[in-house]
Amino acid sequence: MSSATNVLIHPSQFPEQVRHDLLESLRTRRLNHKFHYDSVKQTQKWLALHQACSPTRNDADCRAVYEKGFKAATAQIKSRRVDVIGLGCGGGQKDTRLLKLLKAGGKEVFYTPCDVSTAMVLTARKAALAVLPAEHCFPFVCDLTTADDLQTILVTRHPSLVTFFGMIPNFEPQAILPKLASLVGPKDYLLFSANLAPGADYAAGMKRILPQYDNPLTRDWLMTFLLDLGVERRDGKLQFEIEDGRFGSKRVVARFHFHRPRRMEIESQVFRFANGDTIQLFFSYRYTPDRVGNLLARYRLRVRDQWIAKSGEEGVFLCERGSRCGKANAFS
Ligand SMILES: C[S@@+](CC[C@H](N)C(=O)[O-])C[C@H]1O[C@@H](n2cnc3c(N)ncnc32)[C@H](O)[C@@H]1O
Repeated sequence: MSSATNVLIHPSQFPEQVRHDLLESLRTRRLNHKFHYDSVKQTQKWLALHQACSPTRNDADCRAVYEKGFKAATAQIKSRRVDVIGLGCGGGQKDTRLLKLLKAGGKEVFYTPCDVSTAMVLTARKAALAVLPAEHCFPFVCDLTTADDLQTILVTRHPSLVTFFGMIPNFEPQAILPKLASLVGPKDYLLFSANLAPGADYAAGMKRILPQYDNPLTRDWLMTFLLDLGVERRDGKLQFEIEDGRFGSKRVVARFHFHRPRRMEIESQVFRFANGDTIQLFFSYRYTPDRVGNLLARYRLRVRDQWIAKSGEEGVFLCERGSRCGKANAFS
């Protein structure tokens, strides 16, 4: 068995805060996405879904797109030492591939796997230890939605490469991008990936990708949260819709529509849902490459280079700190 390790836990994931966030999610009827990754059961369902549907698992061209981004980032970083900060690292497969290339490029690499799930950061750490020594790895558990002091905690000693893979779809851009931008200093880079709506017609592209969400595996994963709280399948119906989001972008939203009354009690707090009420369980913004560039520019992040999968459904973006605030554009 491997030795014990220190994991830094941000107050945003202290039990009382998690409890508060859960109650808040039920009160506002909008779920913080972190609650889909909470239990072992949910994590397993998500991993099965990822294995079955993720383009990085099933599309060699999509994997090649990431590889190109990793190589470009490695070539771009001139310093001998680099701090990789993996935000929402998941199991750390992508970050580890990047760490390997950085090491092969002669860099001394330090890694901070950061995720809301302790299991995920430990899994990412384990993967990374194939590449770097344990004393170069600093697992960090935090909720990126609510933590507002990341800039003071994630202080790096060397130029850093922040990764943010597959995360932007599940965050309100105006909530997460200022935090992301605050972590990218003048000598730092950001490697960012986004699921995209394919093709020139944005609305048609959104319709094309809808079955990637509205399918039995995703339904099963998303319903786990409600079922674990005592909701029954026959209480209502999970529905997926495409709707307009911030800055002229579109997103897929999943809501459970109650068809009969349901009462939930959590630590003496009671939540009542009536026939016709809904709870938003999930959303996923899908951008286009132009929209990604314009969105990042609003937060002083400039896309240096980008690689788009042939399917048009996923893109990797190498970004740096821009010199000015985002321009007004067609999507404002
Ligand atoms: C779609 S997965 C992406 C994982 C990985 N970056 C990849 O590309 O394979 C989303 C990850 O974000 C984490 N996550 C969800 N909400 C989060 C939050 N509010 N703060 C930090 N991590 C979060 C989940 O635990 C999960 O590991």
